[in-house]
Amino acid sequence: MKISTNHLSAAYLNLLNEAKAVMEKAYSPYSNIRVGAALLAKDQKIFVGCNVENAAYGNTICAERSAVCNAVANGYRPGDFKAIAIVSNGENFSPCGSCRQVLQEFGSNITVIFEFDGEINSMLLMELLPKGFPKKD
Ligand code: THU
Repeated sequence: MKISTNHLSAAYLNLLNEAKAVMEKAYSPYSNIRVGAALLAKDQKIFVGCNVENAAYGNTICAERSAVCNAVANGYRPGDFKAIAIVSNGENFSPCGSCRQVLQEFGSNITVIFEFDGEINSMLLMELLPKGFPKKD
């Protein structure tokens, strides 16, 4: 099935492509699910991440959090980000609850772009994590 990306801006289309490219680097021998994430900063820089699994399954690192760590290690901080695109070889992939919480630390108005129900969704993190902790004004 070809999923329409017509409604996306060129910048967000590019972000999806960056996520697709890094998805190929995933280390996921246990689930075989590859995930790539590309985080766009307000200064247009992009930080990518992929999932990294472990024989002790609970130690697995998700792609979104891997991208956040990459950005933070490069000096970026809460408020610095505009959007994150997430791509997986599995269908109906949206960020897990832990990743939503970690992303919220960096801004509840980050736009999250992901494929779900046969379409590319583009929505604010605050819509994906309503009434998140801590409470915002
Ligand atoms: N995974 C992510 O990378 N991001 C998420 O938001 C949810 C799950 C990864 C972890 C694991 O390697 C694989 O997807 C299957 O759960």
